[in-house]
Amino acid sequence: MASRTILKESQIMKIHYITGIAAIFVVALHIMMRLVVPFEQSLEYDYIIANYKNIVYVLILEAILVLISVHGFNGIRIILLELRQSRAWENMVTVVTISAMIGLIAYGTRTIILANGL
Ligand code: HEM
Repeated sequence: MASRTILKESQIMKIHYITGIAAIFVVALHIMMRLVVPFEQSLEYDYIIANYKNIVYVLILEAILVLISVHGFNGIRIILLELRQSRAWENMVTVVTISAMIGLIAYGTRTIILANGL
């Protein structure tokens, strides 16, 4: 099996820990935006659109999107591989979780780009 895989499980686990820890920092920054914006304003349409035009904040949002997607879908992959072991199951789980991860990142990035252009 090892000869067929691109990444070793130990490398994937390193990615899992790094994305998990990095996500804590960027999500903390994201939620702390709440402290600098008045409550009534924070979810107003114009304010949300303005967020997407702030390039530094957009990069933080994109980082959250990528980190949470990679971490979350890899977490689901690990749980599913613990539940059942067979070559066919492992291949199916890998294809489904990587496709879902790519789909979510692509759709979220599309939203960020569209909102940035409004
Ligand atoms: C684990 C991931 C995330 C958590 C826990 C989270 C949590 C939150 C919270 C608590 C708020 C404040 C809501 C309020 O003011 O009442 C918020 C607002 C918002 N979130 Fe997220 N969020 C996450 C990921 C993302 C991602 C990936 C995006 C990407 C576009 C995003 C975009 C926004 C926007 C635009 C707002 C409103 C304005 C602002 O940035 O404060 N969030 N989020």
